[in-house]
Amino acid sequence: MESSTDTTASTVGLDPAIDTLPASFRWGVATSAYQIEGAHEEDGRGPSIWDTYCRTPGMVHNGDNGDVACDHYHRMPEDVALIGSLGVDTYRFSVAWPRVQPGGKGPVNAPGMAFYDRLVDELLAKGIDPWVTLYHWDLPQELEDAGGWPVRDTAYRFADYSMLVFDALSDRVRNWTTLNEPWCSAMLGYYEGRQAPGRQDFGAAIHAVHHLLLGHGLATQRMREAAGEPMEFGITLNMSHASPATDSAADHDAARRADGLSRRIYLDPLVRGEYPADVVADLSARGVEIPVEPGDLEIIKQPIDVLGVNYYSSSKFSGVDEAGNTEDADGVPVCREVRYGRPVTAMDWEIVPEGFTNLLVQIGEDYPGVPMVITENGAAFDDEADESGFVRDDDRTAYLDSHIAAVAKARTAGADVRGYFAWSLMDNFEWSYGYDKRFGLVHVDYDTQVRTLKSSALWYRDTIRRVRGS
Ligand code: NOJ
Repeated sequence: MESSTDTTASTVGLDPAIDTLPASFRWGVATSAYQIEGAHEEDGRGPSIWDTYCRTPGMVHNGDNGDVACDHYHRMPEDVALIGSLGVDTYRFSVAWPRVQPGGKGPVNAPGMAFYDRLVDELLAKGIDPWVTLYHWDLPQELEDAGGWPVRDTAYRFADYSMLVFDALSDRVRNWTTLNEPWCSAMLGYYEGRQAPGRQDFGAAIHAVHHLLLGHGLATQRMREAAGEPMEFGITLNMSHASPATDSAADHDAARRADGLSRRIYLDPLVRGEYPADVVADLSARGVEIPVEPGDLEIIKQPIDVLGVNYYSSSKFSGVDEAGNTEDADGVPVCREVRYGRPVTAMDWEIVPEGFTNLLVQIGEDYPGVPMVITENGAAFDDEADESGFVRDDDRTAYLDSHIAAVAKARTAGADVRGYFAWSLMDNFEWSYGYDKRFGLVHVDYDTQVRTLKSSALWYRDTIRRVRGS
């Protein structure tokens, strides 16, 4: 085994299961546009729902916003060099819709698209595969003003926008993810209000679910038709393993409902071309119908070349609240998260690597024939940089180690997982948490924009080398 002197900083990170991963396994790091780019008014970029949300008092920790973020828009070549130094083969990034089509419709904004053109060229010159996510939450504000994702037209606007990007980059980009975590866009954005656009309307959120899926289907159909050569199309879902808190019927039912609204409501239409009957019945009991029109499910059920899985934590569920009730004041059945009682990350998310293994095995069994790539996994911790900016983050290394091992164990148990991308390349704007939470393998000093590899980055680099046998 080759080891580098600087990883001697790490005393953790040695799960032998990792060595069962094949040399051909895909390794990457991931980011998203609004979280790192900054340059919010440059080259004709229009406002997105996140620009608006950040300017709404009380929505984002500390009043932070993505105006400057990691200033990646101006430091892109330096950042690509950093990616290269990690030895990964893939970089997953997102294209900012308001940069390439500022009002969400109409012709391409050439200066905005030129940025992604340069980024792709820079990556390819360093031997790194670009992996494009078309939508990572930054809906053009004009489309939200017209109703946003709860409105059917947004799905068609998304397909048109996707084709602008596809036309510009598909001569060099092979890997296309339509949406990142539609659950967050729909449920956090339109129901819980904890993300942009900050609405709180359950019915609107369910409409958003359907129109996000329809947008995925329309875009995938059109891109695949236009592709001159084989490419990989897919979608990224955030999922966890939902298990009952106890063996009671009420807790089993709560876990079923949690799994239904977070996982099966997406995967069933995508892979099987139908919404799960139990979820439809639960929604109907709450007076909500999914706005399916004839032909929609055929459009949504496009072949998935690769399913992106984002995993951070898992929970158990109980159908009884702390006061012993099985329904809330509105008559909605209780679905209460119950902790495993494990150590947590700085997000207060429990560290449950076996939930990752169970989830991947479960997806493999429920939806056979769908290859998976882990498009995000990682952890925020309260890093402390020394005077030189170096962070010795053994807690993050241990998290990565146990979760990459969890993926390896899932593969051994039969799950078809072909790659792993760490979230995130560098510290960045963590949405409603602002810059307070750091997920990076690379430390960012936001005063100076100096980037410094953390010890977890060195561990990741050496782990990739070891698995590859290079
Ligand atoms: C999922 C999201 O895709 C990403 O944008 C976010 O930063 C991470 N999870 C961590 O919360």
